[in-house]
Amino acid sequence: MPHAAVARDKAAVVTGAASGIGRAAATRFAAAGMRVYLLDLPGDALEAAQAEVAGHAAEPGHAVALPCDVSDEAEMRRAAAKVISVCTAPSIVMNNAVTRTGGGVWNPWADWKKAVDVNLWGVINGVRCFVPSMISAGARAHVINVGSKQGITNPPGNTAYNVTKAAVKTYTEALQHDLRTTPGCRVSAHLLIPGWTTTGDREHKPGAWLPDQVVDYMMAGLEAGDFYILCPDDETTPAMDRKRILWAAGDITENRPPLSRWDPACQAAFDAFDP
Ligand SMILES: NC(=O)c1ccc[n+]([C@@H]2O[C@H](COP(=O)([O-])OP(=O)(O)OC[C@H]3O[C@@H](n4cnc5c(N)ncnc54)[C@H](O)[C@@H]3O)[C@@H](O)[C@H]2O)c1
Repeated sequence: MPHAAVARDKAAVVTGAASGIGRAAATRFAAAGMRVYLLDLPGDALEAAQAEVAGHAAEPGHAVALPCDVSDEAEMRRAAAKVISVCTAPSIVMNNAVTRTGGGVWNPWADWKKAVDVNLWGVINGVRCFVPSMISAGARAHVINVGSKQGITNPPGNTAYNVTKAAVKTYTEALQHDLRTTPGCRVSAHLLIPGWTTTGDREHKPGAWLPDQVVDYMMAGLEAGDFYILCPDDETTPAMDRKRILWAAGDITENRPPLSRWDPACQAAFDAFDP
């Protein structure tokens, strides 16, 4: 049955739910009749998101704000205990929270540490605190970890972010292998890879998608049973993504320099590359 996990009597947990893609996903799950738990840092943005999501909920009290720093294992454990005490196990956990703090190779240690703590440990904490309850519940359920094309093609610039997103990809691939080889397990893991999406206070520019479009694409991917939910946008087509991803992998198999896409000596070869 499509979206057996996205249904009236089920619960969804979304981290980073106060903004952007997380907020749009939380709204969509509430509109499907689910009880939705919005995890984010405490503050006005979380309260505003909770009020908005509550406006789409089927019943009063079905949009619950849980202030939580996802990088803090103890806070995530407390949030999970609250959710599990009410609904036994969520059927959706979307590990989506992000910091863009980080920067290049030589940026301060504290920035790198924050990037790894939030973007990688936030995901691992979410999986370890919620997924065992989902496996035990024995019902169809999805854990959706949010990656990035930057974690696959590794463009120069925010290397710390790229490193964390590459790690989320590796972790989620291994998680899905583990889940599918666990007897009786009905939980599947998915890697959502958004394209360029206007979120937060950013001005919407031509080429970018809006968070609702990403959520539409995610829901279709879940329904199709896709592990990699690789979103295009209005600038980058699926064919361009394919070319960039295969070119990046080819740096190893063709013995080119790393990040050769941004090496002037390789520019003509990349332009001519037609996978
Ligand atoms: N927007 C894009 O173009 C884009 C592209 C590729 C991937 N992504 C990924 O999609 C996901 C959502 O991105 P977005 O642009 O909607 O994000 P956003 O910046 O709009 O929102 C991120 C949310 O995470 C929360 N957050 C930050 N640190 C936290 C912490 N320690 N604990 C709890 N919450 C915390 C923030 O408060 C914020 O509400 C991210 O994982 C991002 O890497 C986004």
